[in-house]
Amino acid sequence: MAGKTSGNVNLSAAKTAKKDEFYTQLTDIEKEMRYYRKHFKDKTVLCNCDDPFESNFFKYFVLNFNRLGLKKLIATCYTGSPIANKQLSIFDILGESEETQNKPYKAVVTTVYDKTGDGGVDMLDVAELFKSGENELTELEGDGDFRSPECLELLDEADIVVTNPPFSLFREYVGVLVAHQKKFIIIGNVNAVKYRETFPLIMIF
Ligand SMILES: C[S@@+](CC[C@H](N)C(=O)[O-])C[C@H]1O[C@@H](n2cnc3c(N)ncnc32)[C@H](O)[C@@H]1O
Repeated sequence: MAGKTSGNVNLSAAKTAKKDEFYTQLTDIEKEMRYYRKHFKDKTVLCNCDDPFESNFFKYFVLNFNRLGLKKLIATCYTGSPIANKQLSIFDILGESEETQNKPYKAVVTTVYDKTGDGGVDMLDVAELFKSGENELTELEGDGDFRSPECLELLDEADIVVTNPPFSLFREYVGVLVAHQKKFIIIGNVNAVKYRETFPLIMIF
């Protein structure tokens, strides 16, 4: 019986972890963001549940940085993410050590241009701009939890937060954004609209 309970607990934890690691498609982000384009001008956007080189939120904002007229883009990555713990090809480009690859980190982008000179802007330019130090890619002190002091400092710096947060922490996540009086766009599980914490926010708009 004890074994069965433990099995159920493990299964439930695995299901939760799986839901928390659901990644958003670029096309879905593009479809949604077209309604908000004008709101991003001269703004600092924070993606605080986003591995910069796997998250399509980071990709969308970095590749549309100039078109949207962004002031700054910040993305932070959580240590619990399996993606944070895998070998990232982008770090091979950057020549980072294996030790650095396994740590949660923060990306801060203030400039995006055709660094490679190949006639267009893509993720290779983004990598080169980190490599040259024109943009910043640094390790976080903690684990990248959106509730950690260093991530809350970044939250306070941001004008708009855009992400798909971990489903299991959805209520708490929205609570933190509201407590810090942030504007936000969340693409997430449709069931979350029925939450006590979320429904009144939807009624406002
Ligand atoms: C549903 S996934 C979405 C990932 C990404 N935002 C996207 O849409 O593709 C949620 C992400 O939040 C991360 N995460 C889980 N707990 C977190 C926490 N406490 N603080 C910050 N990020 C967390 C997970 O590792 C995962 O990468």
